[in-house]
Amino acid sequence: MTAGRIRTDVAHNARVWNYWLGGKDNYPVDREVGDQVVSLYPGIGEVARADRAFLGRAVAYLAGEAGVRQFLDIGTGLPTADNTHEVAQRIAPDARVVYVDNDPIVLTHARALLTGSAEGVTEYVDADAHQPERILDAVRPVLDLGRPVAVMMLGILNFVLDTDEARSIVRTLMAAMPSGSHLVLTHPTLELGGGGNAEAMEFWNRNATPPITARGRAEFASFLDGLEVLEPGIVSCASWRCATAVEVAQFGAVARKP
Ligand SMILES: C[S@@+](CC[C@H](N)C(=O)[O-])C[C@H]1O[C@@H](n2cnc3c(N)ncnc32)[C@H](O)[C@@H]1O
Repeated sequence: MTAGRIRTDVAHNARVWNYWLGGKDNYPVDREVGDQVVSLYPGIGEVARADRAFLGRAVAYLAGEAGVRQFLDIGTGLPTADNTHEVAQRIAPDARVVYVDNDPIVLTHARALLTGSAEGVTEYVDADAHQPERILDAVRPVLDLGRPVAVMMLGILNFVLDTDEARSIVRTLMAAMPSGSHLVLTHPTLELGGGGNAEAMEFWNRNATPPITARGRAEFASFLDGLEVLEPGIVSCASWRCATAVEVAQFGAVARKP
C-alpha cells in the first residue's frame, strides 16, 4: 500500500531535503521546487548540512558524555550519512533508536535504517507528529520509558503550524519521559539573518507539502519550558558546540529534563 501513497506530482519535504543534502532519493518535481527555493533563498543547502552536522554533534554528546542509551528521532528524513543510530551505536553499540516519520517514501527506505548494531535496537514507526500519544504507544514496547530518552525533533516542529499545538506535542512527549531525558530541537527562523527565507517559505507553501512556518527565538524557547537548556543555549545550530562554523538561520538547542 505504501507505494500507492507516494505522490510524484507534488514536492515532498523529506525528498527535497534529501535533494539539498546531495541525495538521490527524489523525483523531478522535488528537484524543480528545490531549485526554485534555492533561487529565492540560496542559503538553504547550508542550513540542511548544518542541521545534519548538529545532529551528529548532539547525538555524540548524548551517547558519550551524557550516557543516554535511548533515542526517539521524530521526523527522521531519508537515510543519509551519519543517521542517528549510526552515530549513537558507534559510541554505544547497545543504544536503542526508534525513528518516526509520516512520509511514505521514508517508510519504503526504513529497511536501510534498520541495520543497526547487533547489541542495539533500531526500529521504525510510521506515525504523525500531530499524534504524540500514538507515538508513545508505539515506542513503549521498544524503549524503556523508566530510563532516560533523547527525544529528537530536528526540522519537524516547523511543520506543526499552530504554535500552541507544537508546544502541546512537545509537552506530551516530554511528560512521558523520566528525569535525565533530553530534548533536541532545530527549527528554521527568519532571525539569525534568515529574512530571505520568508519568500522561499511562501513559495514552498504554494507548491509543496507539508506547509512550513518559521519561528522566532521566543517561540523556540517556549518549546524548552521546564527543561534545563545546556550550554551554549539557543544558538544557530551551526555554532552549537562548534567554534568554526558559519551561522545559519536555524535555531538549535539541547535541553535536559531535571
Ligand atoms: C526537514 S526534514 C528533517 C529530517 C531530519 N530530522 C534532519 O534533521 O535531517 C523533516 C522530516 O519531518 C517529516 N515530517 C514532516 N511532518 C511530519 C509529521 N507531521 N509527522 C511525522 N513526520 C513529519 C518529513 O517527512 C521529513 O522527513
